[in-house]
Amino acid sequence: MEGGVISTEDAILSQVTRPDLRTIYTEGMAAIAAAADLASIEDTRVRFLGRKADLTTLLRSIPELPAEERPELGKYGNMIRKTLETALEERRIVVEAEELLHGLERDRIDVTLPGRKSPLGRLHLIAQTQREIEDIFIGMGYQIAEGPEVENDYYNFEALNTPADHPARSLHDTFFITDTVLLRTHTSPMQVRTMEKQAPPVHIIVPGKAYRRDSDATHTPMFHQCEGLVVDEGVTLADLKGTLETFVHAMFGADRKVRLRPHFFPFTEPSVEVDVSCIMCDGAGCRLCKKSGWLEILGAGMVDPNVFGFVGYDPEVYTGFAFGMGIERIAMLKHGVNDLRLFFENDLRFLRQF
Ligand code: PHE
Repeated sequence: MEGGVISTEDAILSQVTRPDLRTIYTEGMAAIAAAADLASIEDTRVRFLGRKADLTTLLRSIPELPAEERPELGKYGNMIRKTLETALEERRIVVEAEELLHGLERDRIDVTLPGRKSPLGRLHLIAQTQREIEDIFIGMGYQIAEGPEVENDYYNFEALNTPADHPARSLHDTFFITDTVLLRTHTSPMQVRTMEKQAPPVHIIVPGKAYRRDSDATHTPMFHQCEGLVVDEGVTLADLKGTLETFVHAMFGADRKVRLRPHFFPFTEPSVEVDVSCIMCDGAGCRLCKKSGWLEILGAGMVDPNVFGFVGYDPEVYTGFAFGMGIERIAMLKHGVNDLRLFFENDLRFLRQF
């Protein structure tokens, strides 16, 4: 093919004398060789072989030419036309192949590149701890109850055996909204709300936020508690201790010991504070437990019969226990966090550790 083109080219350039034909031929071949994409191939075709191209006009004018000019124009004009057509087609094939190749190169996907990781959020340590507590009690057959954070004086104090003049109220540092509406100072109001709505037996925990006007290394104005309430016939303090032991072993490990200390809450009688053997020194005495070997983790007691009076449960038939723990405190002890405020500053360097 290429040999043919060269010999045609030789023939044309050695034998054609008409300058216009020679020009069309050399310019046409140069334009074809220079056409780098399909658009310029088409432009070149229109320019040298189209209906208005010089060569077309020349060939059409043959009948009007003087007789001696006709043979050269007829023979070489058509030869040039064929040669340009062939060269153009060959060029088109090459350009098409090149464009295909460039397209493939441009659109290539490197399947070996590592994927982009989208950063995954995670639960805040308080949320994690709350869910752990929930899981443990759900495993013991408890239901989860949730209640309002904006509470009435009645549920937060009154029905919990804490009348208006009761000295325990001053310990609560309450945020009042009106004289009788407040931010709940503990999750205990849900004891009353639950018992109002259902008859025994009751097995609930109440995780949620509580509020007190207090702020230092161990107190924040908002914090989380998890309440527990069990009411049925024949519930005893031993049931409370067994339940809390089961919880402590699941939360802090099977070799932790649990101790009850006498305490006072208006809504339980008797009331206790519950300690767990120090998770750092295992009871030997260290800085964390202030040499006592024990860490306080929650308050609890047997539901005061007066509370049953407010919800219409017969205290001669039913007994119950209740407990309330600070979720932050559980998280601090479990993970060795020494300042409560770290939970609420949301410093990612802290949060990412859990
Ligand atoms: N509500 C008490 C507190 O916030 C804890 C508690 C709950 C004590 C249930 C006894 C029974 O301190």
